Order: sequence, then C-alpha cells, then structure tokens
Amino acid sequence: MGLRVIEVNHLTKLFGNAVAVNDISFSVEEGEILGFLGPNGAGKTTLIQLLLGLITATAGEIKILGIDLIKDREAILSQVNFSSSYVSMPTSLTLWENLSVFAKLYGIKNHEGKIDSLLTLFEINHLKDSLTRNLSSGQQTRLSLAKALLNSPKILFLDEPTASLDPDIADKTRTLLKSIRNKSRTTILYTSHNMKEMQEISDRIVFLDQGEIIACGTPNEIIQNFEEENLEDVFLKIARRKVENIE
Ligand SMILES: Nc1ncnc2c1ncn2[C@@H]1O[C@H](COP(=O)(O)OP(=O)(O)OP(=O)(O)O)[C@@H](O)[C@H]1O
Ligand SMILES: [Mg+2]
Repeated sequence: MGLRVIEVNHLTKLFGNAVAVNDISFSVEEGEILGFLGPNGAGKTTLIQLLLGLITATAGEIKILGIDLIKDREAILSQVNFSSSYVSMPTSLTLWENLSVFAKLYGIKNHEGKIDSLLTLFEINHLKDSLTRNLSSGQQTRLSLAKALLNSPKILFLDEPTASLDPDIADKTRTLLKSIRNKSRTTILYTSHNMKEMQEISDRIVFLDQGEIIACGTPNEIIQNFEEENLEDVFLKIARRKVENIE
C-alpha cells in the first residue's frame, strides 16, 4: 500500500440545520487520481473546501500529508493547490501579472521561466498581456490551472477543472493531469459531471449523495457493483431510484 496523503475521519459539515457532508471517512494514497462524483448538491465542493481549510468542519478530523489541518494549516497549504472553474482570479490584472503575484506569494524561484512554461503548456502564452477580465471562461479556467501548478503541489484539488473547456483542451488537460501524476507522483482530487472523463482518468471514485459516500472503488468496481454497463448508467440508476422513493 502506498503512502496515505489524506485521511478523513467522520467528517461532518452543517450549514444551519442542513447537512452538506454527513459523517464521511476515506483516505487517499500518494499519486492517486480520485474523482468525486455525485448529483448537484451532493457535497463535493463543500468537501474540497473542507480539505483546503477554507471552511471549518462541524465535526471530524482531516489529516493531510500527516499533518492535522486544524493544528497546522499553513504547513499544508504550501504543498497543495487548488483550481476551480467557478473561482475567478483578480480581473483587473493581466495573465502575466496574476501569475507573477501568485508566484511571489508562493515564493517560487525563477518564476518567470515557470510562468512562461505554464502559459505555453495551457496554450495561453499569446494572451499573457491581456486583462484577465477579457478572457473567455475556458481561457480563465486554463489560467486557473496554470496558477494551481505554480508551486508544483504534492496534492492538487480541482473542482470541475474541465467544465468550461472545449473538447480539445479538456482532452489535453486530462492527458496533462495524468502526466503530472506519472512524473511527480502528484495526488489529484477532482470533481466532474463528465462521466466519460471520470471513467477514463480516475484510479478511484468516491460517489457522494446527500453528503454521504454511497459507493467507493475503481470505476469498474462501481459499474459492476451496480450491475450497469458504464458510469453514466450508474448515475442515472441512483438519481432515478431517488425519484422512485419520493413518488
Ligand atoms: N455556504 C453555504 N451555505 C449554506 N448552504 C450551503 C453552502 N454551501 C453549500 N451549501 C449546501 O450544501 C450542499 C452541498 O453543496 P455543494 O456545493 O458541496 O454541492 P456539490 O456536490 O458541489 O454540487 P454541484 O454538483 O452542484 O457543484 C447543498 O445542499 C448546498 O445548498
Ligand atoms: Mg460543486
């Protein structure tokens, strides 16, 4: 068994009386690509925000890289990073300025070369002097992914990283994420509503529904457990089972 880089024990998050994350436990090994799957409102974004310490848990424990998140969040944050299609970067700066600001915050040495290579990697080098507010949503996503790789994180948290990408760039991003994992043993936790993508790049899937883990395993294990042909059918089975229960 590989090194455990994330350990979550009996994690719960309430918003008022509403339970967003309900007593969940799981662990993640170094170098795993783990997909959080589940319907809208299942608790995926909440879980990522909890793992980043952006919101505090109502109950439970989170250990990242062996460190208790509550006790030493700073020691963890320098070794992880985050990207979301829905969190935009400061819009009045150019792409280059934005990445420079983050690189300086992260204390990256020789950051100009690093920024250059990331802009090239995500095919946005020609936009480096454009204002961030003028980017299309897919271009903003690529900028956000470039930011997330600046500090060569040990763990990457990605909330719907490919949601606004065109099929070509989405495919390149998947290939890139796999190659980063293969080269650097980076652990990647991500969410997506693209079932084909989930099936293709996840080593393991945690299936969330109403804040609870209802299935966990390799894509094939989950498909077999639900006696379906593919993940899309598993998803529909679960969603429709819920409707039947309500009726
Ligand atoms: N800041 C908040 N205040 C109150 N309720 C919240 C807050 N953030 C999330 N919730 C609630 O918690 C639940 C889980 O939301 P979350 O955003 O984690 O879902 P999700 O799985 O990411 O869904 P989606 O697929 O739509 O992105 C939802 O019922 C949501 O309404
Ligand atoms: Mg979400």
